[in-house]
Amino acid sequence: MKSMKICTFTTLMIVIVFCVLCSSFESCSAIRGYNHHFRKLKATSSAASPSSSNDNNTFNVLDYGAKGDGKADDTKAFEDAWADTCKTEGSTMIVPSGSEFLVKPISFSGPNCEQNIVFQLDGKIIAPTDSESWGSGTLQWMEFTKLNKITIKGKGVIDGQGSVWWNNNDSPTYIPTEEESTTSSQYSVQASNENLPSQKPTALRFYGSDGVTVAGITIQNSQQTHLKFDSCTNVQVFDINVLSPADSPNTDGIHLQNSQTVLIYSSTLACGDDCVSIQNGCSNIFIHDLSCGPSHGISIGGLGKDGTKACVSNVTVRDTSLQNSLTAVRIKTWQGGSGSVQDVMFSNIQVSDVETPIMIDQYYCDGGKCKNDTSSVAVSAIHYVNIKGTYTKEPLHFACSDNIPCTGLTLDTINLQESTTQNAKSDSPFCWQAYGELKTKTVPPVTCLDSGNPPNKGINSNSDSC
Ligand SMILES: *[C@@H]1O[C@H](CO)[C@@H](O)[C@H](O)[C@H]1NC(C)=O
Ligand SMILES: *[C@@H]1O[C@H](CO)[C@@H](O)[C@H](O)[C@H]1NC(C)=O
Ligand SMILES: *[C@@H]1O[C@H](CO)[C@@H](O)[C@H](O)[C@H]1NC(C)=O
Repeated sequence: MKSMKICTFTTLMIVIVFCVLCSSFESCSAIRGYNHHFRKLKATSSAASPSSSNDNNTFNVLDYGAKGDGKADDTKAFEDAWADTCKTEGSTMIVPSGSEFLVKPISFSGPNCEQNIVFQLDGKIIAPTDSESWGSGTLQWMEFTKLNKITIKGKGVIDGQGSVWWNNNDSPTYIPTEEESTTSSQYSVQASNENLPSQKPTALRFYGSDGVTVAGITIQNSQQTHLKFDSCTNVQVFDINVLSPADSPNTDGIHLQNSQTVLIYSSTLACGDDCVSIQNGCSNIFIHDLSCGPSHGISIGGLGKDGTKACVSNVTVRDTSLQNSLTAVRIKTWQGGSGSVQDVMFSNIQVSDVETPIMIDQYYCDGGKCKNDTSSVAVSAIHYVNIKGTYTKEPLHFACSDNIPCTGLTLDTINLQESTTQNAKSDSPFCWQAYGELKTKTVPPVTCLDSGNPPNKGINSNSDSC
């Protein structure tokens, strides 16, 4: 009797325990199933990837083994973090503040990446300075390529540590370009590394991407160009800083090539070459509220080198100031090219101690020897409105082609005074084969502009069709 009771009790207990176990199994497997489903949604299936910080589709380089001490090579951690970021639409790769990451030449390559990726840069990334890291040379240090909707933003810094490259002469026959020699007698370089390759890399380059945003960051001491866009569409750059010494050679601030619909604004750039350089294949470019200087100015070109065809159209630069610069707004083309630059508006440009604020040079010749040619990149419909401030050499210089003169140049509200802070040379405005119209009186008076159209108009009609 007693044993029966115990037996029944035991059976009851077993049943209860079984049921409890059973239901918990059920809920466990349900959770597991949900988790599995959720993880699949996030596509972070890689077993090796750290799970701790992935909850919001964020991939922090520190979780991939980056040291961030400025000495250890963090390239692999960046590559691994990118590999996971790339797989997840709308994800964020985090380069956190408070650390300095040494990263070798790297490609954030995306033909197979998801779209809408953010590269959140709050820390500092530095480039290696030893020659082994650069091998036989690369076009760029950091590359983002073939991405759809890619953003780099944050308060972080990209530092090319370029001084080791700056006086690294390409060859024994290296001759400083005309611009280099006029703006600097000696490069302020602490150290140089003769074993570095002659190909100086661009610090940050975007290639073949649509919907690119660069915001907030600082790019400094680049080996060569700081920020380049090549074959990109729908680009936005704002609130960035570019910082390099005035005598660092070829350190363009922002370089645009074969890119359309580009908006650049609210940024400060100081560098050793063009503040912004607009090259072949660019159209619908809108630039405003920049502060440039020192720099070589905002330049369209040099276009048409080695007989090439170049097309640039619809460029607006406005509400921008330039200090201590070679030029403010410039168009430069080589002899012998074809194609055209047209529909350009430079307005509300404030200059201070700029050598030659307004310039068109169709005899551009950087280094080497150039001879005159019958063909040229045609320059037309270039408008200058409200350009004010001080110059140190020449207020305006229009050197246009003999065979294809510049046409449709307009000057409206120009007030350029000799600088009193520097020993200004004060040449008067220069024009050659420059046709256009004065919309207002100018200071100084520009009497050299030809009115109407040139007599041999249309000579370039075949080659200027862009
Ligand atoms: C994740 O998202 C939540 C809700 O949007 C937010 O509160 C939290 O700060 C985010 N965590 C990280 C690490 O970004
Ligand atoms: C010129 O470029 C601007 C800025 O990208 C754009 O808004 C505008 O539509 C373009 N104009 C023409 C005629 O294409
Ligand atoms: C090219 O032509 C321009 C304008 O006619 C002239 O001033 C210049 O001296 C020529 N340059 C050469 C190298 O012939």
